[in-house]
Amino acid sequence: MSNFMELLAEYSHNFKQQLPAYFPLPSGPEKRVVEAMYYSVSNGGKRLRPFLVQTTASLFGVPFNISLPVAVSLECLHSYSLIHDDLPAMDNDTLRRGKPTCHIQFDEATAILAGDGLLTYAFEILSQDDSPLSPLQQRELICLLANAAGAFNGMVSGQMLDLYREGNSIATAQKENLVKQIEEMKTGRLLRYACEAGAVLGHATPKQRQSLINYSRKIGIAFQIADDILDVEGSQELVGKTLKKDEAQNKLTFISIYGLDGAKKMAQELIAQAKESLKELDLKTQTLQELADFIISRQS
Ligand code: IPE
Ligand code: IPE
Ligand code: MG
Ligand code: MG
Ligand code: MG
Repeated sequence: MSNFMELLAEYSHNFKQQLPAYFPLPSGPEKRVVEAMYYSVSNGGKRLRPFLVQTTASLFGVPFNISLPVAVSLECLHSYSLIHDDLPAMDNDTLRRGKPTCHIQFDEATAILAGDGLLTYAFEILSQDDSPLSPLQQRELICLLANAAGAFNGMVSGQMLDLYREGNSIATAQKENLVKQIEEMKTGRLLRYACEAGAVLGHATPKQRQSLINYSRKIGIAFQIADDILDVEGSQELVGKTLKKDEAQNKLTFISIYGLDGAKKMAQELIAQAKESLKELDLKTQTLQELADFIISRQS
């Protein structure tokens, strides 16, 4: 295991230990939805988004306990996106993070509600009264997250385009633009938010923030390209998802346009550019550099 992977594994372990405190179980039968929420959030996963929030914030000296709620909030929102992405009406997946998807483990209606619950809870966490953040920081994080996750150039728009593309045929030149747009929105926006949230927490200068945004945009696209590559040539045991689904569902991916080798080359170039963006920051960015490399070398 590389040093970075050990660091991420240790982070994931600590992160998971913080989760039960965020999910007190109601005593009535409505607790089923909270059980489904907790099942999905606590169920493994790389924790890359919360790690990015907290690593970026720590560049500016923000302590772990201060950035933790922001990180948990984002992981809740991400987990909601996965629950809904797996639903029969969307990608119709049965395996997630090596376990049955939420609608298989519970049922479809509960999974829809668990997604709704996690999405809403993400904002509840951010807007806590007893937050150590200033009201201005809270407001900014709420706006940024709403924008990154939403239906106006956010994750929801990316998901819509991803679904709409199925079975449609358009000219190659249009496809190249569309695939970039899809990947930037459905995946890139939340990764960008993770870095921006760290910048907000750390009171970064506008210039520092821009460098972090540049970095996040590059790793965001590379991350989705890697996800698409794993779908084609990953090991199901390591990835923890049903593979070879993108082609079967006629998804538009970088691979469907440029082939595996072309997509790999692109991802490598993006990672080199991401690392270049970090050089503009006069901060200790080694972990972010290593994270960039991990994005395309990962097996899960
Ligand atoms: C999967 O994200 C969904 C995409 C945006 C491609 P991750 O690969 O980060 O999933 P987990 O959180 O590690 O399970
Ligand atoms: C989904 O992309 C991105 C989300 C917003 C959840 P995918 O559909 O490729 O993600 P996986 O492969 O199911 O994790
Ligand atoms: Mg999908
Ligand atoms: Mg999917
Ligand atoms: Mg995928």
